[in-house]
Amino acid sequence: MHIQQLLVSRFEDALQAIDCAGSPVPVAKSNKPGFGEYQFNGAMALAKKLKQNPREIAQKVVDAVNLDGIAEKLEVAGPGFINIHLSNAWLSQQVQVAVADERVGINAQAEQKVVVDYSSPNLAKEMHVGHLRSTIIGDAVAKCLEFLGHNVVRQNHMGDWGTQFGMLLAHLQDKLAQNEVAETALSDLEDFYREAKVRFDQDENFANKAREYVVKLQSGDENCLALWQNFIDISISHSEELYQKLGVSLTRNDVMGESAYNNDLSVVVKELSEKGIVVEDAGAKVVFIEELADKNGKPAVYIVQKSGGGYLYATTDLAAIRYRSQQLDANRTLIFTDARQALHFKQTEIVARKAGFFKENEAYQHCPFGMMLGKDNKPFKTRSGDTVKLIDLLDEAVERAEQLVLSRNPDMSGEQVKEMKEKIGIGAVKYSDLSKNRTTDYVFDWDSMLSFEGNTAPYLQYAYTRTQSLFNNAGVSTDSVKGSVAIEHDIEKSLALHLLQFQDALEIVAKDATPHVLCSYMYELASLYSRFYEACPILKSDVAPEQKASRLQLCALSAKTLKIGLDLLGIPTLLKM
Ligand code: ARG
Repeated sequence: MHIQQLLVSRFEDALQAIDCAGSPVPVAKSNKPGFGEYQFNGAMALAKKLKQNPREIAQKVVDAVNLDGIAEKLEVAGPGFINIHLSNAWLSQQVQVAVADERVGINAQAEQKVVVDYSSPNLAKEMHVGHLRSTIIGDAVAKCLEFLGHNVVRQNHMGDWGTQFGMLLAHLQDKLAQNEVAETALSDLEDFYREAKVRFDQDENFANKAREYVVKLQSGDENCLALWQNFIDISISHSEELYQKLGVSLTRNDVMGESAYNNDLSVVVKELSEKGIVVEDAGAKVVFIEELADKNGKPAVYIVQKSGGGYLYATTDLAAIRYRSQQLDANRTLIFTDARQALHFKQTEIVARKAGFFKENEAYQHCPFGMMLGKDNKPFKTRSGDTVKLIDLLDEAVERAEQLVLSRNPDMSGEQVKEMKEKIGIGAVKYSDLSKNRTTDYVFDWDSMLSFEGNTAPYLQYAYTRTQSLFNNAGVSTDSVKGSVAIEHDIEKSLALHLLQFQDALEIVAKDATPHVLCSYMYELASLYSRFYEACPILKSDVAPEQKASRLQLCALSAKTLKIGLDLLGIPTLLKM
């Protein structure tokens, strides 16, 4: 059930009936009690346009709109708002429909081809916190889009190419020559990179060899490519270890690294030159972007080929756009990286549009996110100032969750503790990231993310287990509740309404790529459920059977919605806590 959309379409019809077709149809949730559940706010603008009295226009709309059976009352308020009071009977009926559906009534008719470019670590190094954010946020958005019926193509645009591989491969070659096994040599990529860099800076012979490897790699030398492939495979498996710990849906099939575009790069530059978009400048091939000129009118410079002939990150992104549009037939691309790359994607989009690399109406959305900060409000680092290895971070989360679990349940069995600490620890790290508006920096704080109070993973996981124990006690399952739903109590109405707004929330996540909207939705759901649970007895012996059946259905829909929502966010659920 998409309430918002339903109301919008009814108001569209009404506007047509009063000869105002095509005017905007702003329908919003009301945020004050007593003002109904939704508001139509279009009368004021319409009145201005027609030079008429807004309240009179509003009344005309009220007379024209058909919300029979949906709203029990429409009233014109203030300067011309229309307050929509939904009917309890209608809400009851909708709850009944939703609860009987395994998708809780969410329609999945959307069918865009959406490319989601996320995680995309650089394989020369270990994944860092920036990639953690990209991985978690991108995965949640991909899942929401899929749930709404979109055809999602995950693209892990891994950084697997570039001159730094010359030095890394030269170093690896030396290690192998000393009989070391590649897996061992590369067990810590950060250390390995550092060692190679030191040699590169200090040892002229090594530096020459590294440069030689770059040339060999680029010219397709077989031995060199095999060495490179070995390196890449091992580095990808490091990422996969993390994906698995995080419960992220990326697989090897989603890997489409920078190297995959190697053969397209010269074609891209050629096409740009033929179209007169690219010019030679001091030996390099560049695009001057007038649209992004500085305040003195100097256009932004966008390099697609260096004077030595080398290609850049930008060239690869242009090739990726071309591939996604032509080969994947994408309607829309979402890319998750930190905000510092915003300008790059803005420039890339402008150049690609000029070059005709996009189809008409194809959307390209860079979805930036802020930095992860420590409690001191500085970029998140270890005590000694190093970047934090993600594996260590996740291990610490699990360890802290273990202490938490044991402090609450000292006699729990080892098996149970193991399941709980993983689900709670990983869930907490993921949720604390997802629940913040991605565009701002956020402070990583163990204590608040592992708290059972507030908008946290443990709070939601716990709320879910409470629904499960209720059904245990009731001796029925969420799928077998029967009878008719009759909403009476105010809190029942609030809960029902919120449950039926699930699709409204998901649509926002899909449009703006903002999982925090779903998190807020979930938090409110859990809070409403707990208020309902306290105010409305269900299993007490003096509750009439029809009322018990009705309330159990609200519980069942709450439980199912919590479960689906947590799954979409990638937060594991438990049956007991
Ligand atoms: N590898 C890049 C980085 O670590 C992110 C790639 C994002 N995707 C893209 N199409 N450029 O910053």
